[in-house]
Order: sequence, then structure tokens, then C-alpha cells
Amino acid sequence: MSLSGKVALVTGASRGIGAATAKRLAECGAAVGVNYFTSQAPALAVVDEIVRTGGKAVAVQADVRVPEQVASMVKNTVSALGPIDILVLNAGANVPLKLFAEMTTEEFENKVMGELRGFFHPLKAVIPAMIERKTGCIVGISSGLSRHPGPRFSAHTTAKSAVDGLMKSLALELGQFGIRVNTVAPGLTITDATSWMPAEQRDAIGKMTPLRRVANPEDIAGAVAMIVSDDAGFVTGSYIPVSGGQLML
Ligand SMILES: NC(=O)c1ccc[n+]([C@@H]2O[C@H](COP(=O)([O-])OP(=O)(O)OC[C@H]3O[C@@H](n4cnc5c(N)ncnc54)[C@H](OP(=O)(O)O)[C@@H]3O)[C@@H](O)[C@H]2O)c1
Repeated sequence: MSLSGKVALVTGASRGIGAATAKRLAECGAAVGVNYFTSQAPALAVVDEIVRTGGKAVAVQADVRVPEQVASMVKNTVSALGPIDILVLNAGANVPLKLFAEMTTEEFENKVMGELRGFFHPLKAVIPAMIERKTGCIVGISSGLSRHPGPRFSAHTTAKSAVDGLMKSLALELGQFGIRVNTVAPGLTITDATSWMPAEQRDAIGKMTPLRRVANPEDIAGAVAMIVSDDAGFVTGSYIPVSGGQLML
């Protein structure tokens, strides 16, 4: 799966799934923009690791919900690495774990609008050049919870269902320009975002999973690398669960 000569921008790449994805795409030969929001040192460590192993990367700060910051993130990536071929929309793991009856309007809006803004602004900033160059590949990181909700996840499920719809709409509109748009939907993955979960609960979920474990960030990164490669060149508008078989559609 060679991505040699390609430039990728991964949002939320300082930690977790985003960091693993940035490193995996770099291993495949892509030059990578490593976006971070607050975790500058971990983002620089991701860049260092890529550079030490012979790759090319740059750390780019932005809150992906803020259009001006997104514009400079994209500008800095393009001037350091070249035009963006691959955009991975991964940032954001703030999940208000609450029953709907107890959730405030503000908590619901923050989650749903934050997730949508974090997709909308990078897409708006990157798509015009992809259309002009008649090439591009976009991956939205969703969640298995968008198709299979769980109690206390209503805001998260709503947000992820919304971005799934956006990804499908863009696959429809952008195919004519040679731009592929796909969704990768992780199951439970061991990252900072899931560190609140007791080990017994995590192990129980692993035991109920056909492949008998929960995911590591590298499992999700591998699926992203697969879908952005030219081997998947005729795949667009797809929703790919990466859940060890826990979510089967
Ligand atoms: N872990 C799971 O079980 C799981 C399952 C399904 C889907 N997902 C999805 O996978 C994605 C990554 O989750 P994760 O578990 O890897 O989370 P994580 O380990 O908590 O990392 C979150 C990353 O997103 C960045 N981020 C958060 N808000 C941001 C913002 N406003 N602007 C830019 N970057 C921002 C963080 O940056 P800073 O640290 O620099 O602030 C960090 O790099 C999320 O979309 C999540 O919903 C995760």
C-alpha cells in the first residue's frame, strides 16, 4: 500500500487513533500534517518519530471547530509539504456520557455542533484544491455507535450519524472530480478517550467480540491506510466498521 508522493492531513493526530494513523500513513510513504489542539509536545513526538524513521511530517496547531485556525492549519501544511491528497477527519473525542433525560441543551449542542464543525471547516478548506486537482481521498472517523447506539451515548450517536450522512453526501457530489469519501467506524479502542472504562468492562466487551479483543489505535490506522490506498481506488461512500466483528452490517 504505497502512499509515496502523497500528502496527508490528519486532524487530532497528537494522541490515540489520530497519532497511530499519522504514523501508519507516513510508514506507507505519505508526508503528514499532524494536527493538534492542546497537546503540542505529543504532536511533536509523533513528528519526531516519523522523521527519525525517514518520513516527512509537520505539526500544525488548530482547533478544528474554528475556521480561521483551520485555514492556517491547511496553509501551513500545504506550504511545508505540498497540496493535500488525503484528509483524515479524526479530531474530537469529547463524549458527554449522560442519559438524554439528564442532558442539557448546551451539552447536546456542544457535542453535535462541535463534531460537525470539526468536519465542516477542514472539508471546506481542503476540498476546493482537490476539485481543482481532480484527485483526493477523504476519510471520516465515525464510530460503531452511529449504527448501534448504547445508553448514555445519545449525543455521540447523533453527532456520528450526522457526519456519516455528510460523508455519503460528499461521496455522491465529489465522485465526478475523482475524489473518494469513506467512513471508518471504530469499535471500542484503547485510547485516553476510553480510559474511564473499568478494565473488567473492557475485557467483557473483548470476550463478546468475534476476534476476542477490543481494538488498539493501530487497528484503526491500518484500516484507514487500506481505504486511502490506490488498491481501494473504486471504493467510495462506504462505511467500514473496524470492530473485530462486533458490528456487522
Ligand atoms: N477510542 C474509541 O473507542 C473510539 C471509538 C469509536 C470512535 N472513536 C473516534 O475516534 C476519534 C479519535 O478518538 P481517540 O479515542 O483517539 O481520542 P483521544 O485519544 O482522546 O484523542 C483525541 C484527539 O483529538 C484531538 N482533538 C480534540 N478536540 C480537538 C479540536 N477541537 N481540534 C483539534 N483536535 C482536537 C486531541 O488533540 P489535543 O490532545 O492536541 O487536544 C487528540 O489528538 C474520535 O473522532 C472518536 O470519536 C474512538
